Amino acid sequence: MKLAASLLAADCACLAREVERVEPAVDLLHLDVMDGHFVPNLTFGPPVANALRKHTSLPFAIHLMIEHPVRYAREFQVSPVDSITFHIEAADPPEEALRAIRDLGCRVGISSRPRTPLAEVFPYLGMVDLVLVMSVEPGFGGQAFLPDAVGRIQALRREIGERAVEIAVDGGIGPGNVRNVVEAGADVVVAGSAIFGTPDPHAAALELWTRAGRTKRS
Ligand code: DX5
Ligand code: ZN
Repeated sequence: MKLAASLLAADCACLAREVERVEPAVDLLHLDVMDGHFVPNLTFGPPVANALRKHTSLPFAIHLMIEHPVRYAREFQVSPVDSITFHIEAADPPEEALRAIRDLGCRVGISSRPRTPLAEVFPYLGMVDLVLVMSVEPGFGGQAFLPDAVGRIQALRREIGERAVEIAVDGGIGPGNVRNVVEAGADVVVAGSAIFGTPDPHAAALELWTRAGRTKRS
């Protein structure tokens, strides 16, 4: 398992300090980029993400919840350990987005809204490094986990077979369900509120590892 801390739930007035607090207990930083069109919320974009680089060595998992991923993906500073994930429901054709992100020299991911049939991402499994399974409706942190995500993860695991495609799960993950999603086949667990919505984010991240029954690889 890899644990990704979602900055959406962090104190955005002092992101560098928030990142520093959790860094030893997580593997990735998950950055939710929203444009007020694809989802009814606005967050941060390339200037904030790029400015954070000098404060951490953690890889970035950039989750684009925006209509035009091709237009904006290139504004993010990325390296081969980072990923950029876009939504299949966005306006750009998926093949074009996949190619444009791949050309930036980072990993590429695809995601879909909970109500989009997961089979719609299956044709792209040969072209992606990860699939981000949404376990809440994208747009906001702190929502309740949609239990049917467990079945979607299992189905995706079967469809992926031997291919080197990671499954990430995003939304409503906490101590009570982290083990379920990992046992269903998730490789990457994204948690926002369950980490930053607590008084001690570092301890909360460690608790997620314990509840998952996994240990962090250094
Ligand atoms: C929702 C975002 C999630 C969100 C998860 O649109 O994609 O990454 O930060 O937050 P929690 O863990 O609070 O559900
Ligand atoms: Zn996200």
